[in-house]
Amino acid sequence: MSESAELKFGGNSYSLPVVEGTENEKAIDIANLRGQSGLITLDSGYKNTGATTSSITYLDGEEGILRYRGYPIEQLAEKSNFLEVSHLLIYGELPTKDTLQQFSKSIAEHSMLHENMRGFFSSFPLNAHPMGVAAAVTTTLSTFYPGSLDPHRSEDKVNLTILRLLAKFPTIAAWAYKSSIGRPFVYPSAKLDYVENFLNMMFAGPTNDYHVDPVVTNALDKLLILHADHEQNCSTSTVRLAGSSQANLYGSIAAGIVALWGPLHGGANQAVIEMLDKIQNEGGSIDKWVERAKDKNDPFRLMGFGHRVYKNFDPRAKIIKKACDDLLNRLGVKDPVLEIAMKLEEIALSDEYFIERKLYPNVDFYSGIMYRAMGIPQDMFTVMFAMGRLPGWIAQWKEMVANKEPIGRPRQIYTGARMRDYVNLAER
Ligand code: CMC
Repeated sequence: MSESAELKFGGNSYSLPVVEGTENEKAIDIANLRGQSGLITLDSGYKNTGATTSSITYLDGEEGILRYRGYPIEQLAEKSNFLEVSHLLIYGELPTKDTLQQFSKSIAEHSMLHENMRGFFSSFPLNAHPMGVAAAVTTTLSTFYPGSLDPHRSEDKVNLTILRLLAKFPTIAAWAYKSSIGRPFVYPSAKLDYVENFLNMMFAGPTNDYHVDPVVTNALDKLLILHADHEQNCSTSTVRLAGSSQANLYGSIAAGIVALWGPLHGGANQAVIEMLDKIQNEGGSIDKWVERAKDKNDPFRLMGFGHRVYKNFDPRAKIIKKACDDLLNRLGVKDPVLEIAMKLEEIALSDEYFIERKLYPNVDFYSGIMYRAMGIPQDMFTVMFAMGRLPGWIAQWKEMVANKEPIGRPRQIYTGARMRDYVNLAER
């Protein structure tokens, strides 16, 4: 017999069904609560609200577990590659050798941008933040491919949009960077794989070739895998919410890019490096910054620390810390902020304030140091996160459409003025 929960209010008792997931996590289904009792639920920041059921990513914040379609993140980060993981997230299964080959080929074929899109890049001011450019150009894709406007078009059409997005985003990202520094664009090459191609478009130029270093491509591939999905976070929920109005996929992804941009979410990777640089430039005294982070009258927070759902450790941070060490060793890079980061982590992890609040380094505490070692400029860090999260956003959007989810529309408790009569301007 299925379980239910009992709610007592105003002398009445209401029975609410309990929904159980495949990992035995439970939720009270309150969909009919308002109809029965007039009550809504209130949960600012959706801290304890399930917005959907989903079969894409499983996350247990207490145990530090993250799995894509059942596969542990540790295994995927070690053994697979980003396109395999993209296929897994979007289509539900790891690809066979042939399917992966076909998938990679299709992506390579769609990686070019329409020539008329070049003009957009040159219209942005120099130094335009590449996240703004990436969001704008991603939504602009919908104007070049109007066949994508109806998300309920044939599966083939939707699939074409998915391939175009995955294929063109690295080109958009690299071109956003090139235009921000006033350098000529490098076109995608079918001879290079997904990650190599992106790095080549970033760093090659008419006067210099770029030697693709497998140490760098492997590290970047791993970073993209670690960022590929994270269930119902701020940007993913934004993609699903925008998409629930039946907005097209390009526009829904652009909405996700903007949501990711903020320093509390994907923008943290840029904010962490800025913070570490500042600590170093001001003499490297870490205690002062830890004290500031603890001071409730100071808005400063330790960037790269804390997570809404991980209350033990972030499994991605564990993998990344090791990958960061490996990358710096293999490239022979000595970044002084790495030492500051390690000291900061040590001090914060032994401080009562951080222990009590279960604040641990998150995925982006070390990712910026890795991006910097690869030569990727700071403004691009969050774009890298967006590139990694793209398959997750697409998979979540696809699932939302397949489930025929209704338009997302939360309720509120109104706290404003009660009804009052309009007073004519002359009498005020
Ligand atoms: N430094 C200092 N104090 C903190 C921090 C921090 N980084 N994070 C949380 N706290 C404190 C916060 O002040 C609060 O204290 P109190 O209970 O005394 O009021 C308590 O910890 C709980 O914090 P919260 O803001 O209620 O927690 P939340 O779940 O709403 O926020 C968070 C989660 C990630 C936004 C937050 O921890 C934070 O701002 N971290 C820094 C930004 C960051 O690194 N973001 C990247 C997240 S990982 C990448 C991604 O997937 O988005």
